[in-house]
Amino acid sequence: MEKEWRQALEKMTYGIYVLTTSWKEEINGMIASWVSQVSYEPPLVMAAIHRDRYSHSLIEKGRHFALHVLAKKQSDYLERFRGPDPAARFASIEWVTGKSGCPILKDSVAYIECEVNDILTPGNHTLFIGEIKDAGVFSDEVILSTLDFARTYTGKA
Ligand SMILES: Cc1cc2nc3c(=O)[nH]c(=O)nc-3n(C[C@H](O)[C@H](O)[C@H](O)COP(=O)(O)O)c2cc1C
Repeated sequence: MEKEWRQALEKMTYGIYVLTTSWKEEINGMIASWVSQVSYEPPLVMAAIHRDRYSHSLIEKGRHFALHVLAKKQSDYLERFRGPDPAARFASIEWVTGKSGCPILKDSVAYIECEVNDILTPGNHTLFIGEIKDAGVFSDEVILSTLDFARTYTGKA
């Protein structure tokens, strides 16, 4: 990609979410910011996930994912959810198993739990389109976004 295109993309803003998923006994969580609502009726959201991510294989197999809005004060989650051991990402934080089987982080601001209803592969990130099956708000904290982060995710991380 041309340098200036990348620099322009870095000027875009996004939320910073924890995406969780599960398949059988396996669970995982990762930071994702290429996330958007894409329909009201039916209620659909989309997450764009690089095909090399461990989460990608779990979503393909489990066909569900949950998105968590984070509080501004939870910027340490960026470190927590990038380590090599998926189990360590959930250590010492409170979570429950959601209706679909995804981990739901109890100290997030809000969660949105989805079943995959469509998968598009327009480029190197797969668009997982999920129909909302459950959602909830846990707090009114100010939310975390890429405005609080030194850089914006532009596809390389
Ligand atoms: C702020 C931020 C936003 C990110 N957004 C995405 C994203 O939208 N899609 C994606 O595939 N990776 C994204 N990443 C990279 C993944 O979080 C990272 O590669 C993670 O380790 C993948 O975990 P996994 O392989 O266990 O699934 C982002 C990273 C950061 C720091």
